[in-house]
Amino acid sequence: MPRLILAPMQGLLDHLLRDALTRIDGYSHCVTEFARVTGSILPRSFYHRISPELARGGRTEAGTAVRVQMLGSDPDMMAANARVLASLAPPGIDLNFGCPAPTVNRHRGGAVLLEEPELLYRIAAAVRAEVPPTIPFSAKMRLGLHDSSLARECAQALEAGGVEELAVHARTRDQGYQPPAHWREIAPIREAVAIPVVANGDVWTVEDWLRCREESGCEDVMLGRSAVADPLLARRIQALARGEAIRPQEEEWLEVLALIARFWQGVGVRYEAKKRPGRLKQWLMLLERTFPQARELCAAVKLLREASEVEAVLARWPGFPSGL
Ligand SMILES: Cc1cc2nc3c(=O)[nH]c(=O)nc-3n(C[C@H](O)[C@H](O)[C@H](O)COP(=O)(O)O)c2cc1C
Repeated sequence: MPRLILAPMQGLLDHLLRDALTRIDGYSHCVTEFARVTGSILPRSFYHRISPELARGGRTEAGTAVRVQMLGSDPDMMAANARVLASLAPPGIDLNFGCPAPTVNRHRGGAVLLEEPELLYRIAAAVRAEVPPTIPFSAKMRLGLHDSSLARECAQALEAGGVEELAVHARTRDQGYQPPAHWREIAPIREAVAIPVVANGDVWTVEDWLRCREESGCEDVMLGRSAVADPLLARRIQALARGEAIRPQEEEWLEVLALIARFWQGVGVRYEAKKRPGRLKQWLMLLERTFPQARELCAAVKLLREASEVEAVLARWPGFPSGL
């Protein structure tokens, strides 16, 4: 079966959303938000914070593996941090060479390193030396900083450094998140290396998935914002690949409501009361893109500030499961 991977998204896709989204069958694995490595060794507690799943063998409650992502530019510091992370036995370690954030890039982290393939090689090799061969080792990059002229060299450098799988977000750093993603530009990168290349960027629908695979030539695809906006997209894609029928939209919405209930329960445990409504609204605003029913729910909670008020709306909402 073609693999679908749940993308890392800092500030959005935390363990609570991973827990909800991986309840829908479809993802082969997830990647955490990045751990930023600068001049110190991050404590074990840091990794447990970004991936509480580490306490459960690195898997979400539904059993999906969660790789932990690292971001940094100093090979020695990355290696020292990887040693600590590897001691926690995550189901995979991923390196971030795609982050476009100005503060991160100013400190030589993320996508700016795509101008320095030799450094990419040294970072990957240094980390690989600390990661036992039993732990899958992957990386994620963009097409480049300003253009894609060094993309193949970067991919080859990462492969030579021991990276076993490479996700490519089909935009340069300068292109930010501006549509469209340039899936065709992934094809020469895929051809330049022997490791699996995973296509990423702007796959919002089953039709996008088909076209992305055709244009990039990649078997596997990584879903980011669409996975949050449309939690059943992964399953619809898998259903197409298996030749199975797709469920009616009203049934899908009831399933999404069950995921929201699960998420809300987790938010209640993890967040102080005043932060809970904001977490739910953030997700509902993305769900609106796919489900008109989410727009109604979003409108109903939009102006509420108290968790107890949101709770009361949810409890009365048609189809919202009670007594989880
Ligand atoms: C809010 C947000 C946070 C992100 N955080 C990360 C991150 O921590 N690490 C990373 O490699 N990519 C990160 N990305 C990039 C996504 O993983 C993905 O490459 C990008 O969103 C394009 O894919 P999509 O169109 O499927 O969302 C982030 C993207 C967004 C929108």
